Amino acid sequence: MSDKPNIVLRKARDEDLDDVVWVESLSTPSLSYVPHVWDMFLNDEDGDWSVEELEGKIMGCGKYSILPDGSAWLETLRVVPEAQGLGLGKRLYEHWLRLSDEKGVKAMRMYTGVKNVVSEGLAKRYGLSLAQTFHGTKMVAAPFEADHGFVRLSDVGEATDLLMPLGEKWGGWMVMNRTYYKWSPELCRWLTENGMVYRDADGNVVVMGARFMKEFQLHIGLFEGDAETCLGFAKSEASARGVNSIHCLYPDHLTGVEEALTGNGFDMEPSPFIVMEINF
Ligand SMILES: CC(C)(COP(=O)(O)OP(=O)(O)OC[C@H]1O[C@@H](n2cnc3c(N)ncnc32)[C@H](O)[C@@H]1OP(=O)(O)O)[C@@H](O)C(=O)NCCC(=O)NCCS
Repeated sequence: MSDKPNIVLRKARDEDLDDVVWVESLSTPSLSYVPHVWDMFLNDEDGDWSVEELEGKIMGCGKYSILPDGSAWLETLRVVPEAQGLGLGKRLYEHWLRLSDEKGVKAMRMYTGVKNVVSEGLAKRYGLSLAQTFHGTKMVAAPFEADHGFVRLSDVGEATDLLMPLGEKWGGWMVMNRTYYKWSPELCRWLTENGMVYRDADGNVVVMGARFMKEFQLHIGLFEGDAETCLGFAKSEASARGVNSIHCLYPDHLTGVEEALTGNGFDMEPSPFIVMEINF
């Protein structure tokens, strides 16, 4: 008899919710959002939401998402501590590489905390390498009113012309819900169609919104112009929307962005994040 663990990888099903929440509660006790994305993940026909059974019991999960630019985003990879080191993570990476091959996907990316050597080592094992290090900031949303003249942009062409050079200035990345997007015309379209691009008559620009959990968090993807005006607008929006917190993550070399955020009441996340990628 083989002593190789019996790992079965299969698509997640509606009835798996409680088991996957259990997996998440043990593998990432300080980061739990599966219940909030469950329907979105389950109904994602372009991507893949899989669970892994070990000897018939769900012990791991992982999500493969296609971002607006056609790249793959690897997320929500969780294996319960008692099943770690047995190959469940590797099985998911092999599945994701096969999916990318089948779909003709040109790049796969993931993020992890700078201290998560296992997650980083696993990604490296499958050919991913460091793309960028990020700093994060956040603040608790509080009642706030700002006199502002921001309007939402609805013209995709106009928004794309405005945002592409600004995206460049922001190091080529935009982050929402710890999903790290590379700036592209397709991203500009997605942001505009989802009502996340704002500008005022003085040329101040704010990109903000959320990929999921919109009722809890507001994510600033980019701001340009007078920082106090832009961040004041974000704070007033957070207050009006009734979210709990506001977040902004940015490439670590953008010290001006960091100073603007910390100077306007945002606190630094305790440690940086890294994004790793492979291009095919
Ligand atoms: C990260 C995680 C998903 C890995 O899953 P796993 O099932 O334990 O991983 P596997 O057994 O399939 O693969 C282990 C691989 O990780 C790498 N690895 C393990 N320990 C490592 C270390 N100390 N340093 C570098 N790489 C390491 C190796 O490549 C190893 O494979 P190898 O020994 O054959 O070379 C799992 O540990 C986990 O759920 N951690 C908590 C949640 C988490 O961090 N999620 C991911 C980012 S949010």
